[in-house]
Amino acid sequence: MDKNRNQYIPALKYDWLTPVYDPLLKWTMGEFAFKRQLVRQAGIEKNNRVLDLGCGKATLTLLLKKIHPEAEVVGLDGDLKVLEIAKTKAVKTGLKIALDRGMAFELPYPDRSFDRVLSSLVFHHLTRDNKVRTLKEVFRVLKPGGELHVADWGKPQNTLMRVAFLLVQMLDGFNTTADSVNGLLPELFSQAGFEDIQQTDRHITLFGTLALYRARKTK
Ligand SMILES: C[S@@+](CC[C@H](N)C(=O)[O-])C[C@H]1O[C@@H](n2cnc3c(N)ncnc32)[C@H](O)[C@@H]1O
Repeated sequence: MDKNRNQYIPALKYDWLTPVYDPLLKWTMGEFAFKRQLVRQAGIEKNNRVLDLGCGKATLTLLLKKIHPEAEVVGLDGDLKVLEIAKTKAVKTGLKIALDRGMAFELPYPDRSFDRVLSSLVFHHLTRDNKVRTLKEVFRVLKPGGELHVADWGKPQNTLMRVAFLLVQMLDGFNTTADSVNGLLPELFSQAGFEDIQQTDRHITLFGTLALYRARKTK
């Protein structure tokens, strides 16, 4: 029995839905467009060390390595099964990334060891308590001047987007998704010590408003 199993929600809540996660994102959410945009806004430099937090099947992790071959790219996820799929994908591409098993709120890395932390569609899987713990951990592992770049569900810009998001809430839980609907992620970034916080963009998707954020650890 996996002792961490009740500490994370798999990509589509149920293990049996994990195989359809990649095609679903690709066909319904313009996955590559928003992930590319996230990588672009992160302004990654040669030899940067970059963490993809809650990497799932490593789509973003592999994209990071493809666009920035000289960066050291690490993906972390709590779900061993999804990491197995990610490892197979990485072998097929021939791209060298590290894939670690760990919990977002107990990062297995030293202080000040990353230049950038990126995260896509993970924060809405975490309870408020675990979001706060995770952001403290992200702050700890970032170097001074390091940045956090997040793509996740944001405050709906109209009623249609609010209604569309109900499906995600039914799947992933009303408790964990409430902070996204209420647009509270920037406030939580600030409470963890981040500065220069910005919502950089938002996209209309079939499942609601997807928001992109950046935040900096200045000291
Ligand atoms: C919706 S999927 C997103 C995967 C990937 N980032 C993407 O955009 O395709 C959310 C991922 O977060 C992981 N996750 C959820 N809670 C976690 C936690 N507490 N620690 C580590 N990973 C977690 C899940 O296992 C899942 O792979």
